[in-house]
Amino acid sequence: MASQTNSNQPRSRLIIHDLARRNGHADFARDIHRGLTSNPKHLFPKYLYDELGSRLFEAICQVDEYYLTRAEDEILTTHAGEIVSSVPSCETLIELGSGSAEKTRKIIEALIRQRGELLFVPVDISASALEESSHSLLDSYPNLRIDAYAADYFQALAALPKRDAPALVLFLGSNIGNFERDQATDFLRGIRGVLHRGDALLLGADLKKDRAVLEAAYNDSLGVTRSFIINELERINRELNANFDLWAFGLRSVYNESLGRVEVYLESLRDQSVTIRGLNLTISLQVGERIHVENAYKFDPEDLRKLGAQTGFSLERTWLDQQGKFSSNLFRVD
Ligand code: AVJ
Repeated sequence: MASQTNSNQPRSRLIIHDLARRNGHADFARDIHRGLTSNPKHLFPKYLYDELGSRLFEAICQVDEYYLTRAEDEILTTHAGEIVSSVPSCETLIELGSGSAEKTRKIIEALIRQRGELLFVPVDISASALEESSHSLLDSYPNLRIDAYAADYFQALAALPKRDAPALVLFLGSNIGNFERDQATDFLRGIRGVLHRGDALLLGADLKKDRAVLEAAYNDSLGVTRSFIINELERINRELNANFDLWAFGLRSVYNESLGRVEVYLESLRDQSVTIRGLNLTISLQVGERIHVENAYKFDPEDLRKLGAQTGFSLERTWLDQQGKFSSNLFRVD
């Protein structure tokens, strides 16, 4: 179902397909119920990105300790020309988890320089982030058209339009790190399934590094990460009529070195019970009890090569930022 937005853009340059709204509330209720009645309790990273959550994530990208965005932006700024020249007659740029699409501008500009025009297909779970970023991009680039999907990744992959010309797919920001290993391979195979020979995937992956640097990146001193994570409790309060006391939770971000991931938790600061009326559910938490919210897996070059090999891609080239913190990896369809 394509819905034209009431934008001031010419109708023909923007289409937004809203697949996320369909069943959205029922899925949210079911998932939250499942997570809060599990032992240990857990929540879901995808529900962090409501309208406020998407804005808070943009704010995280600006705090000192969260180096990922700046490092990736440096790579894209320096190497956009080279990156796009690896897909010579690319007419379509697909981005999964596009968010504000600020970093994407470097690639869009390079592709427009290469071909004169471009179709951009952003996919994001947040319809508001999509709408905002789409209007802003169309204002900047008169030769750009946008076909946007508000959807989760798998929904969007299934809905993507057929194409003839080569495409470049972006999966930036180390979003891949939110997946477990088997989910990551399923997901990359899903991407591979919609690609053809000559297409490529640019995957942004954060690298394994010093514990202190990683833990600070996921628990910044300004408290923006805590706000971002705790906003999921606020969302449960609002959408499921619950009474979480947001002051009664702290953020814990721990690098689990043997599993190569930062684990992000909300920790109960006292014994408490919480009622979620929309779920007809009361839960209790003990002081020190943790709710797992997300993992951020970190990679080394060998992990990435293997990930490609298992999913029908070969790793053609890797670029790092000057400090060697972050990697951008160009995978070629085998
Ligand atoms: C958007 C999944 C890439 O894992 O670095 C940032 C999310 N969580 N700070 C990440 C996040 C806490 C972010 N990703």
